[in-house]
Amino acid sequence: HGPNLNLLGARERLVYGAKTLEDIEALVKETAKKLGYEVKAFQSNHEGAIVDFLQKESQKAEGIIINPGALTHYSYTLHDALRDTKLPAVEVHLSDIGSREPWRQVSVTAPACIAQISGKKDAGYVEALEVLHKKLNG
Ligand code: DQA
Repeated sequence: HGPNLNLLGARERLVYGAKTLEDIEALVKETAKKLGYEVKAFQSNHEGAIVDFLQKESQKAEGIIINPGALTHYSYTLHDALRDTKLPAVEVHLSDIGSREPWRQVSVTAPACIAQISGKKDAGYVEALEVLHKKLNG
């Protein structure tokens, strides 16, 4: 999870929903367990820390679910880091970025992902798991 997502639950609830990051991580972990996966969750407000995490953890991972927050819209660094993992990644947005401000409608990270799920609040993370599961078992 990218910048500011640690504030979920308190931050613009009408836009992002009422669930906290903890709630979302619990939902993802529980769903992943049913599908036979273990999830390592990470959030940072710092772009470089996310890159470090991806570089380190991708060695022993099968796939990535990422909500890059505002980094989505301008971080070529994150785009490259995702691509360099060589893992299937799914980009998730709680809000529908396609119907918000023009600058939010652009994702520079999505081209490094196999899918983008936007506007489904926390259910988008469950869908992302299903997309990854299909990809890994397809
Ligand atoms: C977000 C959308 C981004 O534009 C925003 O900067 C976020 C959250 C979402 O989940 O809808 O931090 O990624």
